[in-house]
Amino acid sequence: MRVMYVDQTGQLGGGELSLLDVIKHSPFHSEIVLFDDGPFRTALEDLNVPVHLLHGGSLSKVRSETRLKAVLEAGPAFFGLQRRLAKLTAGFDVVYANSQKAFLVSAATRRKGQLLIWHLRDMLTADHFSPMMRVIAVEASNLTASIVITNSQATADSFVQCGGKLEKVVVVYNGISPEPFDAVTETMKQSMLQELGLRGKYLVGVFGRLSPWKGQHILLEAIASLPYAHAVLVGDALFGEDSYVESLRQRAQAPDLEGRVHFLGFRKDVSLLMKCMNIIAHTSTSPEPFGRVIVEAMLAGRPTIASRAGGVLEIVRGNETGLLVLPGCPLDLSAAIQKYHAHPGLARRIADAGRERAINHFSVHAMADGIEEVLRNCMAREEMPILVDSL
Ligand code: UDP
Ligand code: GLC
Repeated sequence: MRVMYVDQTGQLGGGELSLLDVIKHSPFHSEIVLFDDGPFRTALEDLNVPVHLLHGGSLSKVRSETRLKAVLEAGPAFFGLQRRLAKLTAGFDVVYANSQKAFLVSAATRRKGQLLIWHLRDMLTADHFSPMMRVIAVEASNLTASIVITNSQATADSFVQCGGKLEKVVVVYNGISPEPFDAVTETMKQSMLQELGLRGKYLVGVFGRLSPWKGQHILLEAIASLPYAHAVLVGDALFGEDSYVESLRQRAQAPDLEGRVHFLGFRKDVSLLMKCMNIIAHTSTSPEPFGRVIVEAMLAGRPTIASRAGGVLEIVRGNETGLLVLPGCPLDLSAAIQKYHAHPGLARRIADAGRERAINHFSVHAMADGIEEVLRNCMAREEMPILVDSL
């Protein structure tokens, strides 16, 4: 089977990191089309995956919240991309769209006899998409997608609530390898803490791109009243959220936080950094579709705190494998940090149970097998109706 993956970004977001693992473990011939260049391309080339770059032009200006005018203005770019994508996907059995824009262009490109998979990794809710974008995506998928793979039941529910066909949905959780976490030694940890100047400090880490809905500001407010705690922010703005980063930096300079907030930027050594933390917090203010960082925190054997919403509820069992807090509530987060700080035995028990759950329920092999099975079943099944017969 020949699979052409399609993704709108060249950045290394969670969806792209997850796709790297899918491709690494796929038994099929894989190539990929990206609408933008970036470190994702280099990571794919390191895996010897042929990458085709098609620049998205004004389509990249169409954001999730965009309304009709911007969508219409992006029309020529959309059809330009559609034509070029159609040429590239000729001869492929499967077109596998890993993001929403990638899916829409792929939907307009689908040929007879070709499978179209949409790996939906975003909640189709008002927090993230305008009503028009949701309708367009769901209608296109009802008409053209062979199957919609979602990263959690919560993401699947949001798709169905928008009118998406239930029978098209299969949930496949992200899987993450414990190996990089297990490879971290005490010496590596100590020298990293030394290098960062953070030895002996009580560290609360939040990992992920800096973006208002990822809620790094909630952690800053939560530790403002806990003088022993330091916040470590690992990640950078990936999609133009520079003013948010500036607001975080300004807040960090205020007297109640000064010297206790550490910005490490985007890092490739997440497993080592996670192992250096006392606590890892997930602070998203709106429902997280899945949340790889939570599984990673569990694999690192760290006591975890996560926002009680979305796919997180499928990962964390409250008070058992992590503490769950009200999204967007610094007081609740601060109370959870204090609980772990005051009760190291409880923190250890929760961290151990979390690690076991992550290993047993979120393995890379389960993810890769799940996706392979979806593709094989789809291939064996009757053809779905086709919206546009291109070329
Ligand atoms: N990540 C990384 N370096 C950083 C910050 C984050 O490699 O500096 C990774 C992190 O380990 C995780 C991914 O980015 O695998 C974020 O995925 P998640 O599902 O948590 O959130 P997303 O950004 O996809 O919404
Ligand atoms: C998206 C979601 C994130 C999820 C990731 C991998 O980027 O925002 O919650 O973990 O995809 O599926």
